[in-house]
Amino acid sequence: MAVATARKSANGKPTHPGPKHNIDAVREEYYERIAKRNMTPLWKVMNSIVTKEPKTRCQPVVWHYDDVKSLVMESGGLITTEEAKRRVLILENPALHGESKATNTLFAGIQMILPGEVAPAHRHVSAAIRFVLDGEGAYTAVEGEKAFMSPGDLVITANWAPHDHGNPSKKPMLWLDVLDFPAVNFFETSFAESFAAPTQDTTRKDGDSLSFYGSGVLPDGTPAMNRSPVINYTYARTRPIVERMMQAGDIDRRHGARVRYANPVTGGPVLPTMGAWLAMLPKGFKGEPYRATDGTIFVCVEGEGTTEVDGEVLEWGHNDVFVVPPWKRYRHSAPKESVLFSISDRPAQKALGIWREGK
Ligand SMILES: [Fe+2]
Repeated sequence: MAVATARKSANGKPTHPGPKHNIDAVREEYYERIAKRNMTPLWKVMNSIVTKEPKTRCQPVVWHYDDVKSLVMESGGLITTEEAKRRVLILENPALHGESKATNTLFAGIQMILPGEVAPAHRHVSAAIRFVLDGEGAYTAVEGEKAFMSPGDLVITANWAPHDHGNPSKKPMLWLDVLDFPAVNFFETSFAESFAAPTQDTTRKDGDSLSFYGSGVLPDGTPAMNRSPVINYTYARTRPIVERMMQAGDIDRRHGARVRYANPVTGGPVLPTMGAWLAMLPKGFKGEPYRATDGTIFVCVEGEGTTEVDGEVLEWGHNDVFVVPPWKRYRHSAPKESVLFSISDRPAQKALGIWREGK
């Protein structure tokens, strides 16, 4: 009696599949009926949502700086920074058209600020890393410090930190902006606000944060935070370190002589959502293959070379930006001594326990 009851639905109709030749039609009718109740069978989608290996929509892609610079410069005649708020051309992964993403979790764009311009103060939950490509003497004001920037500098803007940019120099400045807002928007946690005054007061001198926190000593009582207190990791300080590592033979066979930009208080990443690295590849470097689950944005800071990604060869030279998608096997080659900067969401993946690497 109990079995007979279990085979009947609430309206008394039998729910067993019926004759075998009719099973597909019965199942379809069932799927349509449960869809009206906002339900769907896991067994139809199991293989696509629990994949054996990472599946990415992201493609390998390179943006050559000659093209990028001339197009960004052209935008200077089309719109002012005051109108645009931020004059940025988005580097959009061709497989993610219309989504403002370089990888599934990272935004990348090239920002330009012309002499005399100010990009007004605002703040947002998305954190940013700036990597300077061109120009000299524009600044990012953040965390009370007006950090003047030079090519190769890495400037961080943490979650909810008010920031503005200005260019008192006589030359345009261009930099790569990388923000975590695709990840922030995945969690649907974006907040942002502008300020009435276009610039903020700064109380620290340029270089204070690097001096205070990046010199092997710390202001006594410095609390541990999940983001670095250093604002500008200058190329003038970081490049000699990778050069020394290379001369000392401390060269990773996959990555070259590489440093990780670190929070000097904790040893952790510069930001909880994004990590960055700088690597020097010796002349004639032929890297061993590597892959990891964090899709990575690279910048060629010096030199030239190629990166083979899953059989596709990306050629890069000075200030070119390129993307290696998650879990795609890649290897760098450099015919001459070269420097590569890179950035990814590895800290976020590691914090969640989902990061993996392999050959
Ligand atoms: Fe911003």
